[in-house]
Amino acid sequence: MAYKTLIIYSTVDGQTKKISNYIAEKLEGNTVTTTVCNISSVGSINLSDFDNVIVGASIRYGKYRKQLYDFLKINLDFLNDTKSAFFSVNVVARKEQKNTPETNPYTKNLFKKIQWQPVLIGVFAGKVNYPHYNFVNKMIIKFIMFITKGPTNTSQVYEFTNWELVDDFIDEFRKRSHP
Ligand SMILES: Cc1cc2nc3c(=O)[nH]c(=O)nc-3n(C[C@H](O)[C@H](O)[C@H](O)COP(=O)(O)O)c2cc1C
Repeated sequence: MAYKTLIIYSTVDGQTKKISNYIAEKLEGNTVTTTVCNISSVGSINLSDFDNVIVGASIRYGKYRKQLYDFLKINLDFLNDTKSAFFSVNVVARKEQKNTPETNPYTKNLFKKIQWQPVLIGVFAGKVNYPHYNFVNKMIIKFIMFITKGPTNTSQVYEFTNWELVDDFIDEFRKRSHP
């Protein structure tokens, strides 16, 4: 019998979905099957069918979305009774001193607010896709990048995700989850 892992993502521009699909592909094997699901559709899934759960969520203007908090609140007991993990996606995490659960402000804040004790927490840098943003977001992100010494060429796409760190997360999750 294969163990079942559910990966739930909360995304706006798709980078958290991309990371979730990558994790699923790597985890999938003889002993584990994976399902990847947008947090908007998680209501149609029976969580108790799964042995392991990973939740990924991105940051926009300093916040995770309400859907994430609603999901965590409703399913807190299940998550604490299951081998569960969380990963955060944001651009602050491109800085080495801000890419751990202890040093990333958004991850620190989240776990101050909720009583969830995942077996593993990951923090991954996301992507800045200037051409994809509307004018206002483009200007604001450019300004934030300027003051944090990041790239400001608005004709470019910058993927900061360090896939080796995602690989480390996957290896560690394998050790800490079923099987
Ligand atoms: C409008 C907007 C606001 C953002 N605000 C923040 C922020 O406050 N802090 C941060 O670290 N990253 C911020 N980001 C960067 C996103 O977290 C990053 O682009 C991430 O890859 C988005 O993930 P998603 O594509 O899964 O939504 C912002 C991005 C956008 C487009």
